[in-house]
Amino acid sequence: MKLSPEQLADFEENGFLILPDLFDSKEVALLRAQLPAILSEECPENIREKHSGEVRTAMGLHLRNAVFADLVRHPRLLEPAEQILGEPFYAQQVKLNAKAPFSGEVWQWHYDFATHHHEDGVPAPLALNLHVFLDDVTAFNGPLWFVPGSHKHGPAPTSLDTATTSYDLWTVDEDTTRRLIEAGGMVAAKGRAGTALIFGDCLVHGSPNNMSPWGRWIFSLIVNPVSNALTREQRPDFKHHRDLTPLIPTADDCLLNRVSAA
Ligand code: SIN
Ligand code: MN
Repeated sequence: MKLSPEQLADFEENGFLILPDLFDSKEVALLRAQLPAILSEECPENIREKHSGEVRTAMGLHLRNAVFADLVRHPRLLEPAEQILGEPFYAQQVKLNAKAPFSGEVWQWHYDFATHHHEDGVPAPLALNLHVFLDDVTAFNGPLWFVPGSHKHGPAPTSLDTATTSYDLWTVDEDTTRRLIEAGGMVAAKGRAGTALIFGDCLVHGSPNNMSPWGRWIFSLIVNPVSNALTREQRPDFKHHRDLTPLIPTADDCLLNRVSAA
């Protein structure tokens, strides 16, 4: 799966891409079927919401489950990343962001490089965040909100928020966010299950609480060039993997083969 020159220009201009229906319903069903067992585990990789105790984020998925190990090497995710990055990259973080019905909480305004730089000593904002929707993402169940073009203003000032949610995050203040939104507007990243997103390390984004009765499971793979690897190992491996082996795409039908073999 290759991005067109128009898509590459769009990514450059806006800082993100929405790729509708990149995975089909059988592939999504297989991925979804893995999750109840993963989410029921009591382990440090499953980080829970402060108030409800529901899982907010489940990390290290490819080390916990063979189907997610396939997804991390899937050509429909890796080939676009290869086009954008142009050099070998490793799996920095592999997770599910679950926004539970009624109780899934906010992700404050932030961009990922602030965390990658401050926590892990990543030198440059080159990492890409590749998402796959495992639910239909609508106006109601807590879609990501992007600020188009915010990556072009250079890394905005950030501070570490340890209070607002159960996941400490380097966040962007309201004045800066207002300025960026006045310049670029906002886009809610919606789409059917199977839709994918690609966004860069300096794109300002967040997502609201999920007040709806519908869950919102989104898979996220962060890839980072090997040449831009972490220089500090203060966070656990599941938050920034130390295995810098370059990801090599596997077969396009790797998920469907598992379905037909079942
Ligand atoms: C979210 O899952 O809503 C936010 C994810 C992110 O910051 O990448
Ligand atoms: Mn983020």
